[in-house]
Amino acid sequence: MTANWSPDSWRAKPIVQVPEYRDQASLGAMEDRISTYPPLVFAGEARRLREQLADVAAGRSFLLQGGDCAESFAEHSADNIRDFFRVFLQMAVVMTYAGAMPVVKVGRIAGQFAKPRSAPTEKQADRELPSYRGDIINGIDFDEKARNPDPERIVMAYRQSAATLNLLRAFAQGGFANLEHVHEWMLGFVTDSPQGHHYQEIADRISESIAFMRSCGIDADRVAQLRSTDFFTSHEALLLGYEQALTRLDSTSGDWYATSGHMIWIGDRTRQADHAHVEFCRGVNNPIGLKCGPSLEPDDLIRLIDILNPANEPGRMTLICRFGSKKVFDNLPALVRAVEREGRSVVWSCDPMHGNTIKAATGYKTRPFDLILSEVEDFFAVHRTEGTHPGGVHIEMTGKDVTECTGGAHAITEENLRDRYHTHCDPRLNADQALELAFLIAELLKRDRLAQNGRTAAIAS
Ligand code: PEP
Ligand code: CO
Repeated sequence: MTANWSPDSWRAKPIVQVPEYRDQASLGAMEDRISTYPPLVFAGEARRLREQLADVAAGRSFLLQGGDCAESFAEHSADNIRDFFRVFLQMAVVMTYAGAMPVVKVGRIAGQFAKPRSAPTEKQADRELPSYRGDIINGIDFDEKARNPDPERIVMAYRQSAATLNLLRAFAQGGFANLEHVHEWMLGFVTDSPQGHHYQEIADRISESIAFMRSCGIDADRVAQLRSTDFFTSHEALLLGYEQALTRLDSTSGDWYATSGHMIWIGDRTRQADHAHVEFCRGVNNPIGLKCGPSLEPDDLIRLIDILNPANEPGRMTLICRFGSKKVFDNLPALVRAVEREGRSVVWSCDPMHGNTIKAATGYKTRPFDLILSEVEDFFAVHRTEGTHPGGVHIEMTGKDVTECTGGAHAITEENLRDRYHTHCDPRLNADQALELAFLIAELLKRDRLAQNGRTAAIAS
């Protein structure tokens, strides 16, 4: 167990990005209440994810992590969850097929409610109110009542997470994810796009392979991997009172686990080594993500890894790089070299979203699809040069046909953004764009695989 750590030891540290609750007594009462509620996930599941991430760190698998920037109470419906899961499975299948390696599936879902903000207040005309910090804290409407942090929202977020997770577990294990249904994961509005046709081709080839295996006596009734999939949840561990209330001692291992989600991550704004968020995360045994933005120096990264993963256990640390498309070559090589020099086991993941947010002339916050693609390409290029494994991607996406990011095969323009702009926080890829990105990543994985095979063949001959 971690020295000098307890689930509440973060409270003695400096902290940033905390909401100002007016009624501290109600907040405390709510945290006490949540601490008696059932865990959302179990320690054994978090350990299983750690094992799978250890395979990613070793270059044997690829991580796909994605979902909403911020889940919302308003968008909580079975249709939304199903459509997200369906596109996510499609992306995973495309990458698995091209990369010929397993894809570890982690959603930004069932707990992704609290948001860090660049300013504590927001001004509209001559009014200034607290910024929106995610539905677990306050409401998005620009009025005094909505923007006041309300502890009752914490229990609403907990219950929504439980219901979402319940449906995801059913989808992952109950037949929906059966590879024999690979054609049925198509969404109506994607069918007619170039991605849709490309996906049909892969689905046809997978169906042929499954038919062949069936004729050899291997089928989904007998093989669990064909009929179901592992699907894990993750979110930013920002609202530490909530995280603490769901931190539980695992009776099997005697270790502490955050039971709010399988994987939690530390945001780019809250990764100060001596601050509360790093303190909380160092003591729980879940896989931990660390957002790495352009201001992170190689020495500081090594110091953070020392704190968060002193035993250098594979699968514990995922470094989620989010530099911005023009900055990957300036920032990533130094971090990769420091980690290699120090012999640390990490998963390198690319978040091509958060460094590529711009304001459109129409006033909407958006992300051009070309910049997203270019950040992913540069991320792969750096790892190819450094001889390390480009382990995964971390994206903001939805299964819906929204218009939040510009570009893509349907060439969404800045003018189109107003058509279906629904996000509660950052702009997400719609289903079509998400699948298009998956195909690009699949190409990059395939190229690396063929290059690797070429090297192996050259060594053998
Ligand atoms: C996010 O992932 O939504 C986020 C706020 O990211 P970052 O901490 O990298 O800015
Ligand atoms: Co975001």
